[in-house]
Amino acid sequence: MKHLLKMMDLTRDDITEILNLADQLKYELKHSIPHPRLAGKTLGMIFSKASTRTRVSFEAGMFQLGGHAMFLSGRDLQIGRGEPVEDTARVLSRYLDGIMIRTFAQKEVDDLAAYGSIPVINGLTDLAHPCQVLADLMTIREIKGQFDGLKMCFIGDGNNMANSLAVGGLTAGMEVSLACPENFRPDETVLKFAEGYGDKFTLTDKPEVAAKNADVVITDVWFSMGDEDEADMRREAFKGYQVNETLMKQAKPDAMVMHCLPAHREEEITTETFEKHAAEIFEEAENRLHAQKAVLCILMQTQK
Ligand code: CP
Ligand code: NVA
Repeated sequence: MKHLLKMMDLTRDDITEILNLADQLKYELKHSIPHPRLAGKTLGMIFSKASTRTRVSFEAGMFQLGGHAMFLSGRDLQIGRGEPVEDTARVLSRYLDGIMIRTFAQKEVDDLAAYGSIPVINGLTDLAHPCQVLADLMTIREIKGQFDGLKMCFIGDGNNMANSLAVGGLTAGMEVSLACPENFRPDETVLKFAEGYGDKFTLTDKPEVAAKNADVVITDVWFSMGDEDEADMRREAFKGYQVNETLMKQAKPDAMVMHCLPAHREEEITTETFEKHAAEIFEEAENRLHAQKAVLCILMQTQK
């Protein structure tokens, strides 16, 4: 593994390696065992979109690993004034040991990796959110014990989360079912990938079908960062794609609920269902820290 660009680049073994190390790092942190595996290393963090969890967990994570994280606003870098990604990548590679980037186009992340010579981590694009999905998988494994035999469903927009969950869930060994409105289906590359998993993958426009007997129910906002102009249209299109107590009756009685956050209560999820599953949702948020620290170590640690 040289970069973390999207879930499709990871094998089941890669996922297991990341989650095992994440569990160990979580244990070390909880027991105040120092783990300065990245002493002297610097991570550059480019943000062209807002963030709470990603920024804070990467910055705190690098500190805990004995390294340093540098916040770089996409607006303040010359990249925001049109300096080519190819040049930015080659320059930053001479100062830093790794780059985390949150932006719009997946191509920008892929180009950064192609032209630079240091590991690149996708901190969210319009296409993918692999860091979040690794934390989600860690949380599922922590609570359910394994992936085999589980059914994961996602209700809502066929966005970055749906794309990465579908790929990550199938790769990890779960059955995956997505319920998305007709015009908001996941990316074609993801549907093509999922085809290879036969009846372990289903795409429907009916939330109650996707949630049937599910062990894990996941949703995300109806309009993502960059979709704000479509908010009213999307609120109409996504009516009915809500995780609530009626929908949860379709899932297994002990089903987990997860949400990458931020959540829009009474849109994609009711306050009632959110609060009932708050322990799972906030464990998921915490696991961003541990899962990303594992990724940072695997990509940036020179001596294991
Ligand atoms: N879930 C997530 O990525 O949160 P932020 O947008 O706050 O980073
Ligand atoms: N789909 C959301 C996820 C936020 C973490 C967005 O892209 O805004």
